[in-house]
Amino acid sequence: MKNNRLIIISYRLPFSFKTENKTTTLKPSAGGLVTAVKSLDLSASSQKPIWIGCADFTQSVWEKSKHLVNDDFEYVPVFLDKAVNKGFYNGFSNSVLWPLFHYFPGFVDYHDEYLTAYQAANQAVCEKVIEHLKPTDMVWVHDYHFLALPQLIREREPEATIGFFLHIPFPSNELLRLLPRRCRDYLLEGLLGADLIGFHTNDYLIHFLQSVSLNLGLSHNLAKVLYQDRGVQCQAFPIGINYGLYHDAYAQPDVVSERDELKKSYPGKIIFSVDRLDYTKGVMQRLDALEAFLQSHPEWKGNLVFILVVVPSRDEIQTYWERKQMIEQAVGRINGKFATLTWVPIVYRYASLAFPQLIALYTACDVAMITPLRDGMNLVAKEFIATRQDQQGVLLLSELTGAANELGDALLVNPLDEYEVADQLNVALMMPPEEQQRRMAVMQRRVEQYDVKQWANDFFDALAATRQGKRKNH
Ligand code: UDP
Ligand code: G6P
Repeated sequence: MKNNRLIIISYRLPFSFKTENKTTTLKPSAGGLVTAVKSLDLSASSQKPIWIGCADFTQSVWEKSKHLVNDDFEYVPVFLDKAVNKGFYNGFSNSVLWPLFHYFPGFVDYHDEYLTAYQAANQAVCEKVIEHLKPTDMVWVHDYHFLALPQLIREREPEATIGFFLHIPFPSNELLRLLPRRCRDYLLEGLLGADLIGFHTNDYLIHFLQSVSLNLGLSHNLAKVLYQDRGVQCQAFPIGINYGLYHDAYAQPDVVSERDELKKSYPGKIIFSVDRLDYTKGVMQRLDALEAFLQSHPEWKGNLVFILVVVPSRDEIQTYWERKQMIEQAVGRINGKFATLTWVPIVYRYASLAFPQLIALYTACDVAMITPLRDGMNLVAKEFIATRQDQQGVLLLSELTGAANELGDALLVNPLDEYEVADQLNVALMMPPEEQQRRMAVMQRRVEQYDVKQWANDFFDALAATRQGKRKNH
């Protein structure tokens, strides 16, 4: 790996630009993919990796402002045609693949033009990859925006070493088969251009292998699919976080002062959640559960607060902006129903959080209520665990997240069952400190051991092994 340069491809670059009063500053991007790739430990590689992504700024902003971006990566923004980007990102990626892969078939809005835009965007990014690709490079393609890209690169550079990692669930074939046949075959064949395909969990891996077998008639041996005379290794690599970064942040002076401030403002119990604005995150169901809880446990009125942070995301898409309105109405309704003249149950913010604020909330809260309806992994859960140097706090976690496979000592709930969530919220609030500590210690060991560095190393080792395997066969 040391001598192999890495080319990373993802839709989202880790930054954008914001211009106010004629001054341009960097704006960090949100989401688990960016958090993970940004925290890769690159100290062992001798060459700066290239990160290719789609720009959400213009070429002229880039030329004027690229000097602001100065870190361990060389960035290559791709400037897609506006209409192509819309059909690709809002359309096929986030109105077809995202809802389908998260088990929301009712939210899928399929149009052939979206698929055409997806193909065009994957092709445009492929051209950029080919422009930079050297024979010793390792290509690492990320996420559902680029399912077709591995095969496009393979057709141009048959000897390239290509890894792919999917950051969202891979669904059962019962979902995938809802797509037109030509579309699903195109996506599966696109992925099979890779040498290595990674998923968060074994369930997603099994779903993929079944889909490949049911749709393309391809068999596999020990999760290696034989496709066009090549072996395509498929494997689960549960993504981790930069444990040290989150753990050490507990004692950072700006975090300590924000935490003190929060504890002073909210002397009762604090329940906290943070998610991007996304229907998959189950915010409405969480609010239903809170309402059921306040109804069945009136003794908590006046003695707790639920701090609900929703981070803006994909707000050009109807299902997203509608969700914002639904959440705001529900917050207003519940606050109206239960508030007194001196207390409100829900403090709601629609904003991104700066790192110290996020850590202050993770470490000030008594319960982190993380209840997505589906989530490939959910890094927020792992970050919460890592920050708790005090080994206090309870994780109330949806069993429908990838993270639930690793965090069995959380209070696991079905996010659709508001009564179960309400009951478990009460259990969390009443949990004795010794039990909190015992559960936290077990989960911290897991999150610390299998951190983002381990995740990336395991992926690179497996990718390097496919390369050696190819050499032997030649
Ligand atoms: N996060 C962020 N901005 C915020 C709050 C959180 O970028 O204002 C980060 C959070 O720390 C985490 C990521 O966004 O690393 C969310 O990842 P997760 O896997 O939980 O969900 P995703 O948003 O990727 O679906
Ligand atoms: C999830 C996806 C990422 C995406 C992120 C934020 O984590 O797996 O690919 O970048 O959400 O979403 P956005 O649409 O803003 O990039």
